[in-house]
Amino acid sequence: MQEIAYINSTFITLDRAFVPINDRGYLFADGIYEVIVTRNGKPFLIKEHLERLKRSADAILLQLPSSLSGFSKIIERGIKEAGFRETMVYIQITRGVEPRRHNYSADLKANLTMTFREHPEYEPQLTLKGVSIITVPEIRWSRCDIKSIALLPNIMMKQRAVEKGYQEALFVTEEGLIREGTATNIFFIKDKVIHTPPADQHILNGITRTYILQQATLHGIEHIERECTLDETLKADEVFITSSTVDLLPVIKIDETTIANSRPGPLSKAIKEFFPKH
Ligand code: PDD
Repeated sequence: MQEIAYINSTFITLDRAFVPINDRGYLFADGIYEVIVTRNGKPFLIKEHLERLKRSADAILLQLPSSLSGFSKIIERGIKEAGFRETMVYIQITRGVEPRRHNYSADLKANLTMTFREHPEYEPQLTLKGVSIITVPEIRWSRCDIKSIALLPNIMMKQRAVEKGYQEALFVTEEGLIREGTATNIFFIKDKVIHTPPADQHILNGITRTYILQQATLHGIEHIERECTLDETLKADEVFITSSTVDLLPVIKIDETTIANSRPGPLSKAIKEFFPKH
């Protein structure tokens, strides 16, 4: 078992993988990414992740360096070569390598790199205990639907949360609308109905988010995608956040307000069971 990277079309150990100083990802954050984790050794919802990768590429007018089935083959081979029980696959595609200049050459070749690291089950005690989140001002751009590697606001706000002893930060607009966490989508439950902000240009349409909404439909749980206020989130019966790396984490505190008596609620627990077991 070892951490490996895919770079220049070959697999090497992670400690030997370097990108050129003129990579536009390094210079400008000019690139896109995906994070896929395995369940029972198989990449979970890979088709959905790769389709979103294509949508992000199209949105920034970047030609993907491989077909989606080509990506699948590299990912499956990397998972096998790394040899972990469960793997976290990070895929990054940048515009390419050329001397720093804001505009880019039309024939620039995109630079594809991947890393394969162990995916420990995300602190399982957090799922049982629940997490606390802070609210932060929405200071991001208006194309958060693109999975861009430019994540400075997300990093700054996540750091602020962690330094205050919280696990995540939730972006809230000046009008009091909730958007999403720094690396998670948000949901709340009121009177057994799931509410979540719409998948427009203000949030990343999480693959986990879509999976949960589909599962809710299958299990007959009512759900609504609409603009949600912070005020109603604070008064909700249950709140949870989701992502590929955490699945679902119940939220038990937002800033100083406790949610659901500081205990993960029954519907959050039931929805968590919709994920296949590791
Ligand atoms: N982030 N919103 C943002 C801003 C995210 O960065 C992510 C995921 C999500 C959830 O998306 P998904 O369910 O497809 O993982 C929502 C990944 C995990 C990351 O940056 O590490």
